[in-house]
Amino acid sequence: MTTVSNVDRSSAEFARNAQHYATLLATLHERMAWAVRGGGERLMQRHMERGKLPVRERIDLLLDVGSPFLEIAPLAAWGMYNNEVPAAGVVAGIGLVEGVHCMIIANDATVKGGSFFRETVRKHVRAQEIAAQNRLPCLYLVDCGGAYLPEQDQVFPDWGHFGTTFYNQCRMSAEGLPQLSAVFGGCTAGGAYIPALSDEAVIVQGTGRIHLGGPPIVKAAINEIVDGETLGGAAMHTRVSGVTDYLAADERQALAKLRQIVRHLNMPPALPLPVGITLPPRFDASEIAGIVGGDMKQPYDVREVLLRLIDDSELQEFKPEYGSTLVCASAHIHGLPVGILANNGVLFSESSMKGAHFIELCNQRNIPLLFLQNITGFMVGTQAERGGIAKHSAKLVYAMSTARVPRLTVLIGGSYGAGNYGMCGRGFAPHFLFSWPNSRIATMSPEVATTVLTELRKSSLKGDSADEELASLARETTEQFTRQSDPYYATARLWDDGIIEPTQTRDVLGLCLQLLAQSSPRATGPSPVFRM
Ligand code: COA
Repeated sequence: MTTVSNVDRSSAEFARNAQHYATLLATLHERMAWAVRGGGERLMQRHMERGKLPVRERIDLLLDVGSPFLEIAPLAAWGMYNNEVPAAGVVAGIGLVEGVHCMIIANDATVKGGSFFRETVRKHVRAQEIAAQNRLPCLYLVDCGGAYLPEQDQVFPDWGHFGTTFYNQCRMSAEGLPQLSAVFGGCTAGGAYIPALSDEAVIVQGTGRIHLGGPPIVKAAINEIVDGETLGGAAMHTRVSGVTDYLAADERQALAKLRQIVRHLNMPPALPLPVGITLPPRFDASEIAGIVGGDMKQPYDVREVLLRLIDDSELQEFKPEYGSTLVCASAHIHGLPVGILANNGVLFSESSMKGAHFIELCNQRNIPLLFLQNITGFMVGTQAERGGIAKHSAKLVYAMSTARVPRLTVLIGGSYGAGNYGMCGRGFAPHFLFSWPNSRIATMSPEVATTVLTELRKSSLKGDSADEELASLARETTEQFTRQSDPYYATARLWDDGIIEPTQTRDVLGLCLQLLAQSSPRATGPSPVFRM
């Protein structure tokens, strides 16, 4: 049982790491402020002059007082489209409404009229995926101009595009997961289908509108000249067409109505947290910054991170004397059991087999898995290949892929190459995946990529300019891999569910484990444990 920390908080290294991490957090806070700002001051003012509330205020009013809100991918689209699409124009996250955990998906009309970019659609679909997996009702706060037309080929025709959001709505509804909408603004085309496909819909008088084609489209298509209110206004839809079910005098009333509908859904209320008596970690999570730092090459003992995340810092390690580059341990977070696999160096055959064995134990005991990635990859070289690293690493990948318990992943450092696969990267559909601001994700590090590509090119280059060309290739490769392995590049493209701070990690994981405990029935049937 590990409960003792060996971190020297007074060392120069600890201070250096902490200082470096403070700059990483300052960057994160600055970028989160960008996400919250929406379309900017001018458009926000116009929005409010129309009697509309900012999207995050709507969410606050919808949630129970004191409810947590686990926001999904707030930095989607960061660094793209000249940074003009904060949060990809949609806020999504999980919170409590009338004591029930719900997925809230809310368009931000100050960002290009709430229209859908590629990342908007990815975020919307991801939020629905999380809702389906965790059996959460979906509440759509709709204020949406449909597809962002200049990007229509990126959002309209393919699987995972706009059509999939409607497919998901229908499937979830049919599976007993309520789909509810409140309409706050002009909802055109795809935007109109969100309420139209909802089980029940509320609309705000004066500002809410729904039409498959707005006035300009109607004029172009059938030469009819009509104003928006006559075509798709709230009163018409509630009293004449029946597209919406309830008319609200203003936004607050619409949100109150949505809460009232949730109250009568007959959904199970959230489990109380903590379950049983739980003790916080014995060591402060803020110290993780001084342990981890920002230098990927600087090794540290990952147990020191675990001690700062788990209940009472009580770590029950499996096979502590074997395959030491993968720490496998049973622990609790906010009173809920979890089986942790955390990298402590490169993955060898022994560590891979130990990981596979531990996953089988968690399967048998019905304990969710948590992968903490800080991994350059599996061991390479003649000795490793002769020892069967390919088949032993495959055992870890196989056991992780077929695990019958829920899986969570946090990138706490590097996530490179096949290490990303073995440790439950996005391609392996973990239930949730978050990153820390110091993480990196790519096939390989910029240094290794530069060596590989210049070596490959060397053989085909001859003549006087060869050295110059190689130097230029080296520069370009280093720049490309550095830029693309940045965690903000990743989160902008929805490769994760968001960047979280080390100090937030315990609470985020606690909420995820709570959701999974509520929604995942205990697996039955044989669950063999093969000793590796
Ligand atoms: N595609 C491209 N740009 C869009 C858009 C869309 N679907 N919807 C809105 N925008 C842009 C506007 O051009 C404007 O851009 P700008 O600030 O660079 O000038 C910005 O978003 C805000 O739109 P605006 O019309 O000023 O906002 P509004 O709050 O008055 O109205 C809508 C919002 C959604 C009702 C209105 O913009 C609209 O009807 N959009 C077109 C909807 C449509 O035809 N969709 C079909 C999709 S298949």
